[in-house]
Amino acid sequence: MRLLILGASGAGKGTQAQAIAKHFDIRHISTGDFLREEIRPSTALCRAVKRLIDRGDLVPDELMLSIVHEILEGDDFILDGFPRTFAQALALDEICGRLGSPIDMALNIHVPDDDIIQRITGRKVCPDCKAMFHIIFYPPKQAFTCDNCGGTLEQRPDDTASTVRHRLKIYHERTVPIIDFYDRQNLLISTSGTGDVEEITQNLIELLEAKLLVAKLEKKMEKGIWR
Ligand code: AP5
Ligand code: MG
Repeated sequence: MRLLILGASGAGKGTQAQAIAKHFDIRHISTGDFLREEIRPSTALCRAVKRLIDRGDLVPDELMLSIVHEILEGDDFILDGFPRTFAQALALDEICGRLGSPIDMALNIHVPDDDIIQRITGRKVCPDCKAMFHIIFYPPKQAFTCDNCGGTLEQRPDDTASTVRHRLKIYHERTVPIIDFYDRQNLLISTSGTGDVEEITQNLIELLEAKLLVAKLEKKMEKGIWR
């Protein structure tokens, strides 16, 4: 199964993608995590990319496409943080077409902007196992320590209130239009990302399974009618 997860910064893409990947036993690919891990500030290009990420700007499409092309090969996945622009959405279609494995469904999580600032500024991330915490909503049992692996929790450099406002502005301008791109292909599942994390996961899984079943039945009917 090949899934996308869309949503604003802090909507819970990473939190939900981790749970969905576990449920379906598929890879969770986060382009944000990939950039933070792989881009070491050892070259001028890497330093330039890090500056873009830290101030909340998008990394250029050409660079993102070369990265995604490499990491999409292989088994099933849920892709988090890509596409973010119309050009990326078109290129993803083309890459998946070439690999012979189209995207099955795009999940979209909606959270009001006012809630996002609180979520992002309180987020703590484990750099080792990528587990996500929140100082108020999902605090770790021991301050600064990951419940899963004991790693020391960190705050991302781009998690400041002013950077989040900038990331939200870019999200509305550049990424929101591609929600409609998947809706028009009947590949979109949209749900609210506000409330209990496990309930949101359960809701997404149920909507996804129902929509995949309908799509399968529709394909069978099409074949039956045309024969
Ligand atoms: P990326 O890492 O993808 O950041 P983002 O899209 O801004 O999203 P976040 O990771 O901040 O939030 P999230 O939706 O994953 O929420 P989370 O689950 O953590 O990208 C970073 C940067 O890399 C970009 O700005 C750009 O520079 C670059 N980049 C990446 N991909 C790119 C691309 N395709 N093209 C160009 N540039 C690219 O949750 C947030 C917090 O809320 C956590 O603390 C969590 O515990 C809490 N939380 C989660 N769910 C709930 C809930 N239901 N209730 C309360 N709290 C909750
Ligand atoms: Mg994330």
